[in-house]
This record gives sequence, C-alpha cells and structure tokens, in this order.
Amino acid sequence: VISRSFSASSVQQAIKNVTVIGGGLMGSGIAQVAAQAGQNVTLVDVSPEVLSKAQKSIETNLGRVAKKIYKDKPQEGEKFVAEALGRLKTSTNALEASKSTDLVVEAIVENLDVKHKVFKQLDDVADQHTIFASNTSSLSINDIATAIKRKDRFGGLHFFNPVPVMRLLEVVRGAETSDQTYNTMMEWGKAVGKTCITCKDTPGFVVNRLLVPYIAEAIRLFERGDASARDIDIAMKLGAGYPMGPLELADYVGLDTNKFILDGWHKKYPNEPLFNPIPLLNKLVSEGKLGVKTGQGFYTYDKK
Ligand code: NAI
Repeated sequence: VISRSFSASSVQQAIKNVTVIGGGLMGSGIAQVAAQAGQNVTLVDVSPEVLSKAQKSIETNLGRVAKKIYKDKPQEGEKFVAEALGRLKTSTNALEASKSTDLVVEAIVENLDVKHKVFKQLDDVADQHTIFASNTSSLSINDIATAIKRKDRFGGLHFFNPVPVMRLLEVVRGAETSDQTYNTMMEWGKAVGKTCITCKDTPGFVVNRLLVPYIAEAIRLFERGDASARDIDIAMKLGAGYPMGPLELADYVGLDTNKFILDGWHKKYPNEPLFNPIPLLNKLVSEGKLGVKTGQGFYTYDKK
C-alpha cells in the first residue's frame, strides 16, 4: 500500500505540465480534461484560428461541467472554470511549448510522415525526462516511434470522441515503451478521470480493431442487399443492445474516416479479408457523401 501511494504521488509530480500538439477535435478535448484535472496545459496548433475556436469550446464545455458538479453553488462553479482556464495556454510554437514539459500528447493529422516530422523536431528540444505520446487511432505506435530516440519514453494514449464525455483511455505499449513510462501514462490517464485499459501495438488497438471490421461487415451486408440500412441498425440496437446501429455510427464517425482507416490497414495487411476495400463505401466517399457532416451518408441529415 505504501509503495502504491508513493508511486501515485511521484507520478502526480512527474506530470504537472502537459503539452498537447493539435488543437482540433481531439486535442482541444485532451487539453480540457488535463486542465480540469489541475495540470498546466499548453495547447499547440499551426492555426491561430483553430486555437481561438478550441479556447471557446473548452470554455463552454467547462461551464457545462461546472453546472453539473456545482449545481447549487454557482460561485464555486465560476471559480472552477476560471481556475481551469487559468491553467490553459495556447501557442503556435510547438518547439517552445515542448521544451520544458513533462508530457507531450500529439493529436495532429493522421499521417505517419507528418507525425514523424513533428516528433523528430520535438525530440531534439524536449527535456530528457519528457514522455511523448500519440493519440493516433489507426497508425502503429512502433512505426511512429522510428522517428525518435526516446523510444522508451513513448507510447499511445488513445482517447475517444468527445474526449470530456467518453470515459475510456487506451494506453498502448509500444515494443520499447518502458515500465516506468507505461506506469506514468496509466496514472496520468486516471488523474484526468479516465478508465484506462492496456493494449499492445496492434492495428486499431482494442476498440477500433473490433469496431472498424464490424462497421465494414454492416456496409457489406447492406451492399449485398441482405437487409435495409434501417433494419441493420434496428437489428443491432434491439438485438444486441448497442446504443447506435453500425451504419448510423459509420455516418457519425464520417465515411471518409472509415475508408481512410480500412485503406491504411488493407495496404499494410493485404491478406486480412476483414480490411478489404468496400466498393459502396468508396463510391459514397467519391460522391462527397461522408455522413452527418455533409448531410448525406447512409442516411440524410439536416445540415446545420
Ligand atoms: P482535427 O483535424 O480535428 O485536428 C487536427 C489539428 O492538428 C488541426 O487543427 C491542425 O491544424 C493541427 N495540426 C496539423 N499539423 C500540425 C502540426 N504540425 N503542428 C501542430 N498542429 C498541427 O483531427 P482530430 O479528429 O482531432 O484527430 C487528431 C488525431 O487524433 C488523429 O491522429 C486521429 O486519428 C486521432 N483520433 C481521432 C478521433 C476522432 O474521433 N476524430 C478519435 C481518436 C483519435
């Protein structure tokens, strides 16, 4: 018990300052949960517009959290929001923001070359003790690690969208991730309020390794004309107890994202039939029917 509490407090001390690279959908959520948990956060993006949008959405989300936690104590709620925002900085300079930090979480575009470029630069300037992590959902942690020297201080921290709401964090151990790094990542995940699971570096880790082929099979079933889209979704909701049907989920995630992940895995694992390309998915994407965000996918949506 003593050694456990000792290690927890040493971890808390280990991660006080977090730098999040990429201020889009995922990065802004990661920055929020870390700031909310009492850490000093620098959120970095190449675009100042993205950063000001992220700042606004974090402020709005924190307001919602405060309302929930401090229902009858609005003043404490305001304090909570102000303090969390006070711990959050934004920057367009990734190098400067990574010089003296304890943890760098990368959440930029899902492209191996771009991730390599960014990590390589940061590896040269970041302090020795700094842990690097990627929020990649479909790339290999070991492939990303080839760009850096600190392979023992690198792993995957895979959050889910929307980050402040989804309770899971997949902590991915690469081939060279050290025990200390792994333990620190697990403790950090808990500190930011997530339930952590551990996974080896395999395509899609746990959640997406199961979800992506499942969605793909649903699209193939629909493509063959075995059942209507609506019936496939009703079947999985009422028969398997899933909160969303697979085609609704595909539309929500974005058909371009589904295709991008499948294509990447198919290229890397051509003998895995579950990852085979799907003509109907390719057709919808080529027609710009990407799901909820474009107003059309397997279903039609009101564009806001
Ligand atoms: P996004 O497109 O919303 O945000 C990416 C941001 O990175 C953009 O704002 C862009 O300006 C910025 N960026 C690009 N290059 C940069 C650089 N060199 N330096 C600093 N900023 C840079 O993307 P999203 O959805 O947030 O995804 C980010 C990562 O998270 C990807 O690796 C993705 O696979 C992963 N992911 C996405 C999930 C999702 O549901 N969207 C879920 C879990 C992981």
